[in-house]
Amino acid sequence: MLTGAGISAESGVPTFRGRDGLSMWKGMPFEVLSSSRMVREDLDEVWAWFDFRRGHLAECKPNPGHIALAEWEAKFDEFTLVTQNIDGLHRVAGSFEPIELHGNIHRAYCVECGERHDISGVPHEPDICRSCGGRLRPDVVLFGEMLPTGEFERAESRARECDMFFVVGTSALVYPAAALPVIAKQSGAFLVEINPEQTELSRLCDLSLRGEAGEILPLIG
Ligand code: OAD
Repeated sequence: MLTGAGISAESGVPTFRGRDGLSMWKGMPFEVLSSSRMVREDLDEVWAWFDFRRGHLAECKPNPGHIALAEWEAKFDEFTLVTQNIDGLHRVAGSFEPIELHGNIHRAYCVECGERHDISGVPHEPDICRSCGGRLRPDVVLFGEMLPTGEFERAESRARECDMFFVVGTSALVYPAAALPVIAKQSGAFLVEINPEQTELSRLCDLSLRGEAGEILPLIG
């Protein structure tokens, strides 16, 4: 299972692309705000953007789509949830082991020593690192950065092995995550897409279910 921003749309979290996508903030495209260059040049603005998003998320709860996937994890022996989302809503819904390819907005790490800090419940830009006094930055993967070591490799090996691969609520434009359904399909999996809109991936899918994740997922499994 690969999820993207669309699975959290019904929880009130804006997507990036597609209808109603939050593609700009303060006049800047999200690809510019969420970039390694921005961390180097204006970490204050990066924090302002992520604080805005964390503030918004404080009001958001998992929806029936997240809950259905937590139930699938409990029900099926061989089930892997891979998400591009940083909102942590899969964990709140009860998923124990989501592979969070793009990190988690409720964590930060020190730009000097790398120590990780839990910032859930911290409403504004957190203080400096308790170990070395360096500045903290969000523990999320930004444009121009590598994915966390081992996470993509784990997802890729499950994609190669699986019988069935679901792609839910993603425009499937951002790599390497977007490669996972292609790898699964090439390895013989049955590929299912759940998305109200057509995507780059649709023509590769064995089945496209056009609708909202929170409505469709609880009807399957
Ligand atoms: P996008 O915003 O690119 O795509 C969201 C997709 O969800 C679109 O295809 C919508 O049609 C679909 N969608 C909207 N509402 C839905 C619903 N209720 N049910 C199902 N689908 C729905 O989001 P991602 O593909 O997740 O990366 O974006 C990938 C990455 O780009 C993000 O992880 C983020 C961003 O830059 C980083 O921040 C590193």
